[in-house]
Amino acid sequence: MSSLKALEHFVRSEGTAFQRVRVSGVIREVTPSFYRVKGLANFVKLGDSIGFKANGRTRVGEAVRVDDGGVTVKPYDGAIEAKVGTRAYILGDLKLCPDPSWRGRVINALAEPLDEGPALIQGAKPYSTDAQPPSAMTRARVSEPIKTGIRAIDLFTPICIGQRIGIFAGSGVGKSTLLTMLAKCEGFDTIVVALVGERGREVREFLEGPISETIGKCVMVVSTGDESPMMRRQAPKTAMAIAEFFRDQGDSVLLIADSVTRYAHAARDVALAAGEPAVARGYAPSVFSELPRLLERAGPGRVSSGSITGLFSVLIDGDDHNDPVADNIRGTLDGHIVLDRAIADQGRFPAINVLGSISRLADLGWTSKQKDLIRRIKGLIARYEDSRDLRMMGGYQAGTDPELDQAIVIVPKVYEALRQSPSMPSSRDSFADLAEFLQQPSGSNALPASP
Ligand SMILES: Nc1ncnc2c1ncn2[C@@H]1O[C@H](COP(=O)(O)OP(=O)(O)O)[C@@H](O)[C@H]1O
Ligand SMILES: [Mg+2]
Repeated sequence: MSSLKALEHFVRSEGTAFQRVRVSGVIREVTPSFYRVKGLANFVKLGDSIGFKANGRTRVGEAVRVDDGGVTVKPYDGAIEAKVGTRAYILGDLKLCPDPSWRGRVINALAEPLDEGPALIQGAKPYSTDAQPPSAMTRARVSEPIKTGIRAIDLFTPICIGQRIGIFAGSGVGKSTLLTMLAKCEGFDTIVVALVGERGREVREFLEGPISETIGKCVMVVSTGDESPMMRRQAPKTAMAIAEFFRDQGDSVLLIADSVTRYAHAARDVALAAGEPAVARGYAPSVFSELPRLLERAGPGRVSSGSITGLFSVLIDGDDHNDPVADNIRGTLDGHIVLDRAIADQGRFPAINVLGSISRLADLGWTSKQKDLIRRIKGLIARYEDSRDLRMMGGYQAGTDPELDQAIVIVPKVYEALRQSPSMPSSRDSFADLAEFLQQPSGSNALPASP
């Protein structure tokens, strides 16, 4: 077969569609984390997919550096199978052709099935995994509140359809559990989940947790911690492209990414391999431009299309909330829910720090009476927490400060109302539930047992 004819055959590769192939070069250098191709530099742009054939399969990588000496390609596959002298081809932008039948499936970052199911049906329209967000001027406004069924969120940080919220916490404080509880929320047509850098066991736990109730409308994109940084960096982008497909069908989509920090770690590894300098705590500058680009893609769509409500978990390394990645993400999102290790240590789950969490669109979710009630309760919680040490030491005498006396009666009841475990049913009306808890006599044993 002539080499031109052979190239014609490179149009599709296992569920992943690429643009028509035109130009090839030769692999000249192979290292444990990338290979270099000569002869392509004038034709390639950063981010293009490059492929070569090994053992009858096309091995795909991404051009992460282009200079006059050649192109640095980082393969998606962890194992570098490139050989010096092999021809490598430009495959263009990485594109997916999502289809409604992908609901209920578990796939990898390159949209290859990971479950036992049949090959994925390919849709008619290709979606770039690196799409631009819709322009700000054509986007619909976020205005419709949604009940998540989680009392701590519906009361203190109500969210809206099309909002982007971060869940910030150290490891083991309950981010993933909270996300699975949120995935039970009934108001969405399609749920797309990106699990990035999780352990295999955690992926199973996630799949078998509360999300199993909604699994029929859920597409799971999984890249475990042992996969290459390229796959881990790709998983949320693939999930986002799938969410964009369903949004364009008019669906109200819930996109969950757990965790964006692991995505940032993977992006850092790729950037460093490409020779970028490390600026903030080892992160290369491109990480901080890629993050907002990815997060901006969630949100409302054009006026007549659907929307993507984004929930992103952010791991706070060593519980340091000033981590540059956390800072960058916090600035991009429309709200953040902070989980606190001290609260988890008291056994109060979800361990949401209601004073440290904000939803920038909360006003749309509250009536003015509810807003006033929440403001007053927050004031009481602040008094209660500020006086914790004093009260513990027995330094406070009841009757000295009427506001603190009121906080001591009310706040434990509020905390009790906020407890929810994944096995508990979702709350239909959080304010009614709260009122019920507040009416219980103080110290009552009638309160539901702690989870
Ligand atoms: N709502 C909850 N109710 C009861 N236990 C919880 C809850 N959320 C978290 N936990 C406990 O915390 C542990 C760690 O939660 P996980 O969601 O895996 O944390 P992270 O994703 O932040 O590392 C869980 O195994 C569970 O024991
Ligand atoms: Mg987790």
